[in-house]
Amino acid sequence: MSRVLILGSGGREHAISKSISNDKKVDKIFCAPGNPGTQEIGENVELDINNNIEILEFINSNNISLTIVGPEQPLENGVVDFIQSNGHKIFGPSRYSAKLETSKLFARDFMEKYNIPQPSYFKCSTEEEVVSVSTKLGFPIVLKADGLAAGKGVIICNNSLELDSAMDVMFNKKKFGKAAKFISVEECLKGEEISIFLVSDGKSYKILNSAQDHKRIFNDDKGPNTGGMGAYCPSPLLNDDLLEEIERTIIEPTINGMVNEGSPYTGFLYIGLMLTNGKPYVIEFNARMGDPETQVVLPMMNNSLYDLINSSFDSSFHEHEILNKEGYCVTVVLSALGYPDKYETHMLIKGLDKIDPNMYFHAGTIIDNNKNYYSNGGRVLNILGFGSTLAKAIKNAYSNIDKIEFKDMYYRTDIGQKGLNYIKELNDQ
Ligand code: AMP
Ligand code: GLY
Repeated sequence: MSRVLILGSGGREHAISKSISNDKKVDKIFCAPGNPGTQEIGENVELDINNNIEILEFINSNNISLTIVGPEQPLENGVVDFIQSNGHKIFGPSRYSAKLETSKLFARDFMEKYNIPQPSYFKCSTEEEVVSVSTKLGFPIVLKADGLAAGKGVIICNNSLELDSAMDVMFNKKKFGKAAKFISVEECLKGEEISIFLVSDGKSYKILNSAQDHKRIFNDDKGPNTGGMGAYCPSPLLNDDLLEEIERTIIEPTINGMVNEGSPYTGFLYIGLMLTNGKPYVIEFNARMGDPETQVVLPMMNNSLYDLINSSFDSSFHEHEILNKEGYCVTVVLSALGYPDKYETHMLIKGLDKIDPNMYFHAGTIIDNNKNYYSNGGRVLNILGFGSTLAKAIKNAYSNIDKIEFKDMYYRTDIGQKGLNYIKELNDQ
């Protein structure tokens, strides 16, 4: 029997815990630090997930047979290298491989070396360099902090005023600290975004599904970037020809390139793409699953996530065929008004008992001794809807939301609308 430790505490980790718990071979799931959702599935443990020694001690003293890493920071801390070198199974990329996410410039240089399609980019560390690039590329232009910035290190500048203010934020105010010591100044690609999620054992890969996030806080993609306000899966933009092109020009050279670099990529890989004039270009790599995309990708999958992950440690990985459900899944993030800036916490959540427990994931919540749930973060809950069509999945998600309330609850009312527009355009062609 297997005892699994999952690192993280968001909706993503609740979704991973739930998928893992569907496998009868799993005896017990621990989640560190977890949330009330993961507590219902297994046991939450108060571990500092940025302390590799604490994690190792927990694994040793609790007979853990598999550890799964949710967020990016422990990857950058080298948790996979450390736990593996102590003889334990841990699913995720090494610190070096995770640089595909933790250093945007590493990723850009890697893609240049292996001829992977991407926007033009320049490494800059001074205002003079950025201004000189902007005269070459013209506006709009993208400024991207090299290091980790909680998904908020990208500024798109439409004119020189916006460029001045972005440079001020990155270089003078140092909003992103050391993460913006170097920045990638990029051509701004136009088109439609699509994300692909896969699992790799280092040599080969299995595509889980595609999805689309909604990163801005307000409807119609207005306002500041957030961690993600909702997602749907699969993306109607993906067809067999496009998938073949993405595999040939992006996924295969990435997996083979990392082997060539002497650091085979293992774990989940999330590839953010822009389709410009029908061609896929890499906007970003993430060395993990997305949040909230995991909350739609995993519920669509019929395979045992536990088996798939376990097989990536032996030679049976290639035998897996990923089987997904028909139709669509949508998740809408219920957030606290004010997020991604300041917001209040400890709002009583009502109505969760009125919806099917398979139709939501906990994110920033806590539970008290009387089993009342309260908000405890910016992104509070992820509410799901399934449907044979995207329109039905959207309708189901929003009708579940109608049953939930907490003070200052905020959510976007247009999650999935973009997908409906694509479907309409495809049908009109
Ligand atoms: P990232 O944190 O890299 O996902 O960037 C956040 C968002 O900024 C992406 O989802 C894109 O919408 C946008 N973005 C980033 N880089 C570019 C680029 N080079 N061209 C156009 N849009 C971009
Ligand atoms: N939802 C975007 C991310 O997880 O990076």
